[in-house]
Amino acid sequence: MFPPIKFIFLVTVYTLLFPSIAFESESTDPIPEPWPHQFHAITIMNYTQGLRKVDLWYDWPNKRYMHINQYQLGKTLYGVEWQNGTSFYFTLDSTQECTVRHFPVGILRPNWLEGSNYVGQKYKDGFLCNVWDKVGFLRYYEDAVTKIPVYWHFYDGLVEHIMAFEVEKVLEDSKWQAPAYCFKEVEKESISLLENLATSHFRDVVNGEVAEN
Ligand SMILES: *[C@@H]1O[C@H](CO)[C@@H](O)[C@H](O)[C@H]1NC(C)=O
Ligand SMILES: *[C@@H]1O[C@H](CO)[C@@H](O)[C@H](O)[C@H]1NC(C)=O
Repeated sequence: MFPPIKFIFLVTVYTLLFPSIAFESESTDPIPEPWPHQFHAITIMNYTQGLRKVDLWYDWPNKRYMHINQYQLGKTLYGVEWQNGTSFYFTLDSTQECTVRHFPVGILRPNWLEGSNYVGQKYKDGFLCNVWDKVGFLRYYEDAVTKIPVYWHFYDGLVEHIMAFEVEKVLEDSKWQAPAYCFKEVEKESISLLENLATSHFRDVVNGEVAEN
């Protein structure tokens, strides 16, 4: 990267000497595509406690975000995150587990990747991708042609492969409702899987941005 002053100087000199070349040299690094305001993604995640299939429902107009975690040959755990900072993590089977967390931040903005550092192109899972580094959090891979995310990798070891990405798909309202046992006076003792789920990587990203500004 050029320091800004040098860059302006170069552009100026080029503009004087070779106006057409100067125009081309002004093109900068690619920027990540903002997230569609609503989408459904099916992903495969590898993190502590093994592999899981994760259904992501991102719903920015309604300011809510849901992930449904199906552990390999194991439990299905739900996470619903709201803009007011409340998150519900629960099961829908007879175990009736629920953990409620409060974060000081809302959900990810569609342009949350703005300001990431472009690190070039790489093949990932067989797709040619543009790759960015969101400093301190993750590396993000986006298909160079379709601009659809292919993979991301948080620096604490979480990796996620995007298997399907359906723009404008919205989960019906009733599915967002946390079950009644989340609203009991005394929360049930949460077990280790739920504790693990309540590590909210995307909340951490929002939190980091709030801290920066
Ligand atoms: C998941 O991650 C662990 C730890 O890095 C690794 O040993 C394992 O091979 C990974 N599994 C898959 C299917 O990639
Ligand atoms: C945040 O919003 C959710 C969904 O409407 C609600 O269930 C929860 O109680 C709210 N939390 C707070 C602290 O108001």
